Amino acid sequence: MLHAIVLRPGADHNGFRRAVRTLIAAGAAPAVVSWNSQGTPDLFDTQAVGEAPAVMLPRPLSEVIEPVVCHHDPERYALLYQLIWRVRNGEPALLEVQTDPLVHRLERMRKAVRRDIHKMHAFLRFRRVALDNAEERFVAWFEPEHFILEAAAVFFVERFCNLVWSIITPLGTLHWDGKQLSSGPPGSRNDAPEEDSLETAWRAYFESTFNPARLNPILMGQHMPRKYWRNLPEAQAIPHLVRTAPARLKDMLEKETAMTVKRDPEKAVAAMLHRQDAPQTLVELNELIAATPPLVPGATQAVLGEGPVNAAVVFVGEQPGDQEDLAGRPFVGPAGQLLSRAMAEAGIERRDAYLTNAVKHFKFEERGKRRLHMKPTVGEVKHYRWWLMKELDFVQPRLVVALGATALLALAGKSLPVTRTRGPMQLDGRAGYVTVHPSYLLRLPDEAAKQEAYAAFVADLRQMRALAA
Ligand code: URA
Repeated sequence: MLHAIVLRPGADHNGFRRAVRTLIAAGAAPAVVSWNSQGTPDLFDTQAVGEAPAVMLPRPLSEVIEPVVCHHDPERYALLYQLIWRVRNGEPALLEVQTDPLVHRLERMRKAVRRDIHKMHAFLRFRRVALDNAEERFVAWFEPEHFILEAAAVFFVERFCNLVWSIITPLGTLHWDGKQLSSGPPGSRNDAPEEDSLETAWRAYFESTFNPARLNPILMGQHMPRKYWRNLPEAQAIPHLVRTAPARLKDMLEKETAMTVKRDPEKAVAAMLHRQDAPQTLVELNELIAATPPLVPGATQAVLGEGPVNAAVVFVGEQPGDQEDLAGRPFVGPAGQLLSRAMAEAGIERRDAYLTNAVKHFKFEERGKRRLHMKPTVGEVKHYRWWLMKELDFVQPRLVVALGATALLALAGKSLPVTRTRGPMQLDGRAGYVTVHPSYLLRLPDEAAKQEAYAAFVADLRQMRALAA
């Protein structure tokens, strides 16, 4: 029997959820389902849905479905249903198979949607409109690529909850009246004002923060694609800033010679290490780290390495997580607990090892009350690398362990894939060992895969113990 599913235009999360329930209950394979994402919901067979039992999906699967439903590809629902079907019919670890064409395509779609949301958060600009009754309203025009309006809305509600605003897009509108969010039909650019009195100030601010020494037009184009410029008041200043950058840079360099403080972290560090008061002990080094503000503001404190100064093995993680940031100690959260358990199983006493991180401060993104971990950039890892190298100089371990890709980047000094380097290897002249990060094990979707990966992790730890002995 052929199942014809009709969903609303846009990101019809509820419609898709209902359709999945009915289709699974009917045992309908993807090949017998047709999807129409431009329809009217009345055509949907609500009778059958009411009777269909709820479908429980593993979290990693939901984490793909949520964003991909927002993608503009008309095939999105068919692809997602294929994924769900395969995971439920003999391929529970499918999402880990990055080489699978379906997984690969959905991952690209997921990233495209996330990027679009990020761009909307970064490049949407409200313009002030004065109403007749002397109240103010803020209106923004934005052209998203995907159906992300609702997904991106929380950010604006949280950030601008005290204002009255509307976001107009060709795919729909959002209105916030200070208390409630409502949505409306697509709008046009003419519905939003072109410029307001704040813009001159905003442009002046942007010009004052622009650093000509850091001008990289290619990167600038990647971070702030040209198609967003039309709506960005500050972007109007870019052509002029780019044109005058060489002259401003020359001027800056002339002034720089008179400066005593180097702004480039690597130069600053190099200078510091050759000074008389460069840290002579691990304690002194830690005092310096603790007194240094985070590269990305927000962290509660620096999380220093922990363990005996003459430890035979040093474990290096990525960066402190939420719990580590609050406790001021490395590896005390869920990943740390898993690491401790695996170490104990492999016969390594945690208190005999030295545990530290490539990056010493927690970087996160706030989502409501939650602080979600953000991966450090290569530049950030590089900035913190010297602390790590100094730490290793003081501890002098027999073996240094890279837990995951960021630690490997910091220890090797270059990006290498963990999968291909896993096991013993020289890390920038030190005896090293590469393995996965314990949080990778926590993220695995199903129990069987988790157990297998955990056993391999314990086997790695056993080998480390043998090497360090
Ligand atoms: N993950 C890490 O990489 N380090 C910690 O300290 C905790 C979690």
